[in-house]
Amino acid sequence: MTCPIVVPLLVLVLAMETRAQEDPLLPFTECLDSEELVMLKWGFDDVQGNITFELCVNTTGWISFGLSPNGGMNGADIVIGGVNSDGYYFGDYHASGNERPVLDQKQSYSLLSLTETDGQTTMRFERSIKSCDTDDHPITELPVKLIYAYGQTDQIGYHRQRRGTKEVNLLKYMPRSDPTQSQYFDMTMLNFTIPTEETRYECRIINAPTFAEKQHIYRIEPLIDHLDLVHHLLLYKCPPQMNKTFQGQCYINPDHRVCFQVMAAWGVGGGDFEVPEHVGIPIGGDEGGCLYRLEIHYNNPTLIEGRVDNSGLRFHYTSQLRKHDAGVLMAGLAVAPGYSIPPNATSFHTYGVCNTSINTEAKDMQVFATGLHTHLAGRKVRVGHFRDGEQIGFMAFDDHYDFEYQEVKNLGKTKTLQMGDTLLVECTYDTANRTGFTWGGLGTQDEMCLAFLFYYPASNLTNCVSFPNMDALKTNLGASNYNEFYTILSQKTWDEEAVTEYERTLKDIPQDLMVDDGENTYWGTIDKISDMMESPNPSCDRTPPLPGPSNASNMASVSWILLLLIWAVICAF
Ligand SMILES: *[C@@H]1O[C@H](CO)[C@@H](O)[C@H](O)[C@H]1NC(C)=O
Ligand SMILES: *[C@@H]1O[C@H](CO)[C@@H](O)[C@H](O)[C@H]1NC(C)=O
Ligand SMILES: *[C@@H]1O[C@H](CO)[C@@H](O)[C@H](O)[C@H]1NC(C)=O
Ligand SMILES: *[C@@H]1O[C@H](CO)[C@@H](O)[C@H](O)[C@H]1NC(C)=O
Ligand SMILES: *[C@@H]1O[C@H](CO)[C@@H](O)[C@H](O)[C@H]1NC(C)=O
Ligand SMILES: *[C@@H]1O[C@H](CO)[C@@H](O)[C@H](O)[C@H]1NC(C)=O
Ligand SMILES: *[C@@H]1O[C@H](CO)[C@@H](O)[C@H](O)[C@H]1NC(C)=O
Ligand SMILES: *[C@@H]1O[C@H](CO)[C@@H](O)[C@H](O)[C@H]1NC(C)=O
Ligand SMILES: *[C@@H]1O[C@H](CO)[C@@H](O)[C@H](O)[C@H]1NC(C)=O
Repeated sequence: MTCPIVVPLLVLVLAMETRAQEDPLLPFTECLDSEELVMLKWGFDDVQGNITFELCVNTTGWISFGLSPNGGMNGADIVIGGVNSDGYYFGDYHASGNERPVLDQKQSYSLLSLTETDGQTTMRFERSIKSCDTDDHPITELPVKLIYAYGQTDQIGYHRQRRGTKEVNLLKYMPRSDPTQSQYFDMTMLNFTIPTEETRYECRIINAPTFAEKQHIYRIEPLIDHLDLVHHLLLYKCPPQMNKTFQGQCYINPDHRVCFQVMAAWGVGGGDFEVPEHVGIPIGGDEGGCLYRLEIHYNNPTLIEGRVDNSGLRFHYTSQLRKHDAGVLMAGLAVAPGYSIPPNATSFHTYGVCNTSINTEAKDMQVFATGLHTHLAGRKVRVGHFRDGEQIGFMAFDDHYDFEYQEVKNLGKTKTLQMGDTLLVECTYDTANRTGFTWGGLGTQDEMCLAFLFYYPASNLTNCVSFPNMDALKTNLGASNYNEFYTILSQKTWDEEAVTEYERTLKDIPQDLMVDDGENTYWGTIDKISDMMESPNPSCDRTPPLPGPSNASNMASVSWILLLLIWAVICAF
């Protein structure tokens, strides 16, 4: 029995990678019209607080794009541009009815490029996500009506039928692809009677269907029978030596631990998850097929009896292979006994480090989505991204973490995790209402601090976590063994000063690192946890926009070749 991702497939991935790459800054695409003459690409950066659009229309005349409260022109925030014999024109407008839009006092959109080639006009522009003045439409995590119109000449005039509208959620975009060859299979519990216990982790080791040829999973749909009791579920891939299927309480049988490569995650509040259109989660192409471990966390605090559960996941797959294989990396604080969060703390920080230079085999990872995970006391999760000892940004952050609404979110742009980079996962907890210690562990009253990174091309780097060195911690507290350690912790008065000091100790002592590459576990150590930068709070006036409507500029000519290349990627079908 062998597992799917083997050498021939790697060769395939490598060969495909030499083809044109997607633009990492503009991962999302929607056709705004039914004839596919009007194509919108976009991407955003939560950290910088800006959103970039690229509108490509099959016309040599003027083109326009807008955000509308109702789908019409009334109240719409509109951008108009085009290329004419003098150069180009571009401006930020608004409309107060079905009439010619009026130029905004404040030009909030910056033009990045504007070109005309092969009968197509392509306009790339950017603005801040927040709305900068009353003439601009706010961009939120809710769907918004996008409008477009264009002309056949550069005389901006009535658009006749060359207009339309489409509702899109720009910031929480989930592609809905519809491959012609599509099927699904389910991995679920089988008539499992949920026990009358507050916390139950049930594991089922399942056979996936086998496919002679590799297939790509493109959408994962949660099938949740009992939304009130199923708290979260994870699907892990087992190594080839695992060859028996069985079900039981997780981790009682040590065989459960063997399957630790996370393939999919769902948490309360999550919906369908779909990977970008050039990526697929590989399955099959092997002779025997792998086993998978479905782990479901049932949370039954009111001890409801007799519920029979068949929850799990539905995998939609296609034989039309996409360009890249996707993988999942789990980073953060190792889930192990001994990690403790004191009571009476309003914002206690814990840290997990992932140092990717420990595993030199894996290739740079293009991260396109993240899922953050803590339990009930979690309030914030931030994933800092460090290169050469400096923080270069955040891979993800959620300053309003809500346990009830966990989901895998697509990033606004594809971020590269270079091998050698370090990730620092920081979780902030509120234990003000707790009287006892909160321990690292599996139950919802226990805590976790994890980030799941969805990336391509797939590699074997699946787990990358750390844990404070327990000997250093005991020594620091003046304990010579675990009993003393627990006694010291439980006898302390956890006022603000004690909490702060304990938090600092956990951060300043050495951390043990563990990196799994599917075959071996590599161990490492770091001296202390680095400081993380402040969460960005992007304001509207971050950069002065470029001059608005303009007669000519060198922009179109200087970057001509570059733009041609971009155009080739974006507009060619
Ligand atoms: C956002 O702004 C930053 C800095 O101004 C820039 O580097 C980036 O390309 C912009 N756009 C996106 C989508 O990140
Ligand atoms: C749009 O223009 C491009 C380039 O000229 C062409 O390849 C494509 O077929 C056109 N699309 C439609 C729908 O006509
Ligand atoms: C699960 O329960 C249903 C309803 O009682 C029954 O029809 C079905 O055969 C059961 N499936 C298995 C595999 O036991
Ligand atoms: C499963 O693997 C064990 C050893 O890892 C082996 O002894 C056993 O025969 C295998 N069972 C099957 C059904 O392949
Ligand atoms: C990561 O690990 C490498 C190799 O073990 C080490 O040289 C480097 O200092 C570590 N980086 C950090 C930030 O600890
Ligand atoms: C703590 O408990 C009080 C009273 O039950 C409640 O009002 C408050 O919201 C709780 N605070 C937190 C942070 O959970
Ligand atoms: C993943 O692990 C398998 C088995 O150890 C190995 O054959 C393969 O080359 C590894 N792939 C990568 C990308 O490291
Ligand atoms: C909680 O913290 C406050 C403020 O530091 C302190 O006055 C109080 O004694 C603490 N309560 C407990 C139970 O430790
Ligand atoms: C645009 O036109 C104005 C007046 O027509 C002129 O003063 C200005 O220099 C022109 N700008 C550019 C960038 O050519």
